[in-house]
This record gives sequence, structure tokens and C-alpha cells, in this order.
Amino acid sequence: MDYLEITGPTKLHGNVKISGAKNAALPLIAMTLLANNTVKIGNMPSVVDIKTLLKLIENLGGTFSFKDENTVEINTCCLTNTKATYEIVKTMRASILVLGPLLSRFGHCEVSLPGGCAIGQRPIDLHLKALEQMGAKITIHAGYVQAEAPDGLKGAHIIFDKITVTGTANVIMAAALAKGKTTITNAAREPEVVQLCEVLKNSGVSIEGIGTAELAIYGTDRRLVDIDPFDVIPDRIEAGTYLCAAGISDSTVTLENVRPDHLEAVTGKLEEMGFTFDITENTMTIHPTDTIKSVNIVTQEYPGFPTDMQAQFLALATQAHGTSTIEERLFENRFMHVSELQRLGADIKLSGHTATVIGPSQLSGTDVMATDLRASSAMVIAANIAEGVTQVHRIYHLDRGYENLEKKLGDLGAKIERLRE
Ligand code: EPZ
Repeated sequence: MDYLEITGPTKLHGNVKISGAKNAALPLIAMTLLANNTVKIGNMPSVVDIKTLLKLIENLGGTFSFKDENTVEINTCCLTNTKATYEIVKTMRASILVLGPLLSRFGHCEVSLPGGCAIGQRPIDLHLKALEQMGAKITIHAGYVQAEAPDGLKGAHIIFDKITVTGTANVIMAAALAKGKTTITNAAREPEVVQLCEVLKNSGVSIEGIGTAELAIYGTDRRLVDIDPFDVIPDRIEAGTYLCAAGISDSTVTLENVRPDHLEAVTGKLEEMGFTFDITENTMTIHPTDTIKSVNIVTQEYPGFPTDMQAQFLALATQAHGTSTIEERLFENRFMHVSELQRLGADIKLSGHTATVIGPSQLSGTDVMATDLRASSAMVIAANIAEGVTQVHRIYHLDRGYENLEKKLGDLGAKIERLRE
């Protein structure tokens, strides 16, 4: 297995280009199951999770080809089967995103239960309950979701008990081909969900309330849609990660190809900590602060502070002066990076869903382990300012969602190398 060897402390400088958003690209790839044409998608991030979902589309009988590293054409016109098998779904739970479109288009499908993951049990009960309300017959058999809707899905009024990002995406895609109007109350408002709605609307699916918690989707009654070429939006979590890497190392760094309006909760917390910014329509420059101030954070659904930035801010908070608190409200087990940061010398205490960090603490390089995707990037951020050499193991987690991380950080001046165990 690969690991990263990082020598610190190192300052960063220069510009970094932000890639397309993994969490936007995944539902957009699933959305091609609704198309009757070859769909061309640009700014596609070259990360493992994308390759996994494309492999699933291929297993279903779809085809794809890359025009360049970040542009892919996908055709699902001649799908031969509607079973998403365990060996793919187990490696990436977001595969559940094919459930809604497959069921809506074909009237039947089998999708392996995704199972939990390191950060939590992550059930899909809300996805299934919504599809049942749209007329699906859902049974769970031998670890698979078996869904039937022989006469197609029909519009319904869905009220989500909890805000669910992929649950909202699944229902939007199911509703796009359903018969009649579907309304969703308590819909997720993440930019990734907004882009899915915008692309479908541009393809002729009437959708109202885009960007709000109340959506209305008028289905085409199983008429497939023509989807024009589009680019995936920039990755706000990758962008936030590089902002934290700059902030923790007292560096001035400029992010290019970024949507500052998608990062307001993150920028707000960084400003609270003392950092300042120069911001244009698609760039952000972060400037260091003499003293990093402590901060209190509670993770929430968009537009609140994103849970996917929690680990990175925990690393940053180890260098803040005073006591910071970070409360994780979305996932039940998203603090595995705490023990790894403590190995570097961080002073963090965990009580229930709240981490309390006392800083600044001198971090010293050693062997650490990545435990999940965003925890991995937190370890890299911390290692970059730790005294000496840090080896970050199990970086297959990192490769799922960060494109060319060691090259991008290396180009900013980090001493980082990918080696093999
Ligand atoms: C999406 O996961 C993201 N993944 C996650 O990013 C992100 O952390 C999460 O949203 C929250 O923002 C993708 O978009 C591919 P949820 P998702 O359904 O959709 C509970 C990363 O690092 N819930 O919004 O799976 C659930 O347990 C990943 O890129 C139910 O109870 O998250 C959680 O507590 C990690 N029943 C909360 O809702 C359901 O049916 C939010 O989950 C569905 C969810």
C-alpha cells in the first residue's frame, strides 16, 4: 500500500487549481441513466470514487470514454441489466445513487445495501421510504434492495425526517422520470444538489425551488431526457482543505477555479480565526494571521458549517491560541482522526460528539494512519507543520476524493512524497 512521507514544518506559497467536486460528479454520473443521448461531462475530478461509479455504469451495460483526463462521455442507452452488485457498492456507498434513476427508468432494479462506513452506520431508510411513497415495492433480500415499480413511479409529497444529500439526489432523479409532480420538503440545499437540479432543468425537466428546502419536480413519465454538455462545479471541500493547509502554515496561497459563494461558512470561521482574504468571482487568496484565534464550530447541513471540513479544522485548531470546540452533529463516529492527531502531539479531548482542542501545540512527526477520506487530508495538513518526518499510512482513503494531492501540495512548496510500504 502507498503512504505519504511529509517533512515539516514547511510554508506554502503560490497558486493551486481546484478540481471538480466529487460529490457533485457522483450524482451527475448516476443522472446519465436518465438520458437518451451520450452525455459529455467536463471538469470531472480524476479520483477513485469517480472511477468506481463509472465501473458500475459499465457493469450495468453503459459505456464511457475519457476525452482527456477530466472530460468523460457516458452513454447508457443500451443498458443490459439493473443490478448494482455488492463488489462495487461495498467499495463506495454513494453507488446507492443509481437506485432512483434505475427504478424510475426501468421499473425494477437491485442494488446492494451499501453498509456502513468508518464514520457511521449511514442508513438509507429515508431513500427507501421516499421511493415507496412514489409507488415502489421495496424488499430487502440477501443484502440487496429489490425495488419494483412495473407501472413506473408516480409523483408524491416527500417529507424528509432528516436532511439527506444523496437521499435528496435519489428522489430528484426518481421524480424526473415519474408520472406527475413530486414535492420534497426538507430537501438538501448543498451546491452539489443544486447543480443536479440545474442540469436536469436545462434538459427539460421542470423543477421549482432549486436551492431551497422545498423542491417541486414535474416528471416526464419515463420519457428519457437529452442532456447537453456541462462542467462539474468546483470542489468546495477540496478548496476548504487547501485554505486550512495554508492557514495552519502561516502561508499566502491563491485558489483558482473556485466558487467562493459555496464556501461562506468555511471562510467565515477562518476570518473568525484571524485570517484575511482577497476574493474574486473564481479565486480566493488567504493571508496569514499573527495569532490564530480559537474557534467554536458546530457541523450542520448546508449552508451551515460542513461536516466534511470538520477534520481539517480540528487540525488547524491545534495551532489556535486558546481553547477551541468542534461539535459533530451529522455523523456518530467522525472523530477517528483525533487519536492520530494526538500521536503528533495535539492536545485534544473528546466528550461525546464534541472535541475540545487546546493550542497552540508543537507537533512532532511520526507514523500516523488515515482513517477516512477527510481525516486523511487533516493528517496531511498537520504533518506539513509537524517538526520532522511524518508518514501517513492507508492513503487509499485520500485517493478516493483528492485529485493529485501530493503534486498540488508539492507545487505549493510542501516536502511530500508518495512511497510504497
Ligand atoms: C453526503 O453523504 C456526502 N457524500 C458526504 O461526504 C457528506 O459528509 C454528507 O453528505 C453530509 O454532508 C456524497 O455526497 C457522495 P446524508 P450522504 O444522507 O448523502 C442520516 C465525503 O467526505 N441518514 O446527507 O450519505 C445519516 O446517517 C463524504 O465526501 C439517515 O439516517 O449523507 C447522517 O447522519 C463523507 N437515513 C445524516 O442523515 C438516510 O436514509 C446525513 O447523511 C440517509 C441519511
